Amino acid sequence: RVLHGVIPAAGIGTRMGSEIPKQYLRLLGRTLLEHSLHAMLRVPGMQSVTLALHPEDTTAAGLDILGDARVNTVAGGAERVDSVQAALRAVPGTRDDWVLVHDAARPCLQQDDVMRLVDVVLTQGEGAILALPVVDTVKLADAQGKALRTLDRNRLWRAQTPQMFRLGELLDALESAQAAGATVTDEASAMEHAGYPVHLVPGAASNLKVTVPEDLQLAEWYLSRQGE
Ligand code: CTP
Ligand code: MG
Repeated sequence: RVLHGVIPAAGIGTRMGSEIPKQYLRLLGRTLLEHSLHAMLRVPGMQSVTLALHPEDTTAAGLDILGDARVNTVAGGAERVDSVQAALRAVPGTRDDWVLVHDAARPCLQQDDVMRLVDVVLTQGEGAILALPVVDTVKLADAQGKALRTLDRNRLWRAQTPQMFRLGELLDALESAQAAGATVTDEASAMEHAGYPVHLVPGAASNLKVTVPEDLQLAEWYLSRQGE
């Protein structure tokens, strides 16, 4: 099988508020980006991983792992979706190849979770994402912050990454969603917009997106337990 990876890593980490962009913070001696990249390179069949980096990024060049022949870099854009599009266009593959898009900010991705995702996609021949069933009761609010109603929790999922689709279909879907002015917060939303099925594969809570400072300790704890 032929798989490719894309890692958007061009953000500036506003909510983290650290001196350096959060993808370069270190946990257990390795940057978040290195953890995420390692997890992708370990997936059997992974031919290439394309990183979208901030145009002014000088940190990535100093990381050993960038020397892996399968790793390519491109300049990212203003929004996550722009970075993903730039990277997808540079993937050294064909339109029918499968591509896994994974946030640099999710460093605790475990192999068994990716493998479950890949298995669903290759068995079904359709795209899928890792996602978590919502455990809280979720309210829909009005503009004043008053609860309008309670949503059916059994049908609500929190989208994670990796998100896995065919390269050509994902590129087209992102382009048409952008052209239609749809809000594209993840790859799946563009695929849904274009009418493609998106399977939800139950992921793990450990695959958190490191967003605010308190997430760092939790991520470090999950990383320290990997392989146990
Ligand atoms: N990302 C990107 N290009 C952007 C914005 C985000 O490649 N223009 C990447 C981030 O580097 C991260 C992933 O998309 O790996 C998820 O984004 P998020 O967690 O929102 O990271 P930031 O945008 O950096 O953080 P913030 O929103 O707090 O500024
Ligand atoms: Mg962001």
